[in-house]
Amino acid sequence: MKTLPFWFLALGTLFVIVGMAWGIQMSMTQDFTLAPAHAHNNLVGFVVMAVYGVYYRLVPAAAARPLAVVHFWTALLGVLTFVPGIALAVTGKGEILAAVGSILVLVSMLIFGWTVWTNKAGLTNA
Ligand code: HEM
Repeated sequence: MKTLPFWFLALGTLFVIVGMAWGIQMSMTQDFTLAPAHAHNNLVGFVVMAVYGVYYRLVPAAAARPLAVVHFWTALLGVLTFVPGIALAVTGKGEILAAVGSILVLVSMLIFGWTVWTNKAGLTNA
């Protein structure tokens, strides 16, 4: 069975591969309009997802909590709404998706903060 760390890292890697191709496409066309969406795809989609994945591998007790699954889906839906939301916002097509996405991204980080805080022993004993 695939584990939570696997899915965080696998999807994060997928996001950054898309993001890198997107960066190359921006360079080739010299159109940097969507650079903020590219940046957040790579940072929230890869860097943050990878930190979550490595954390859950380090602290299996945290990964075993039902809250970890809620955290995963909140983080994933956050990326899937925030990145296209930024693309729509910077092209003047509305900000509602970016607003929803930003809340999901924030909520997922709050869940992570709570998880780290309430699993202190998991890190100190690692
Ligand atoms: C193949 C890999 C990548 C390519 C070709 C690429 C390309 C680009 C390009 C062309 C820009 C716009 C520069 C400009 O506006 O003058 C940019 C901006 C940016 N990229 Fe990437 N990038 C890559 C990977 C990454 C990664 C891995 C990250 C983060 C983890 C990242 C984060 C950023 C950030 C923060 C910006 C600034 C966005 C802004 O000014 O609004 N990029 N990138």
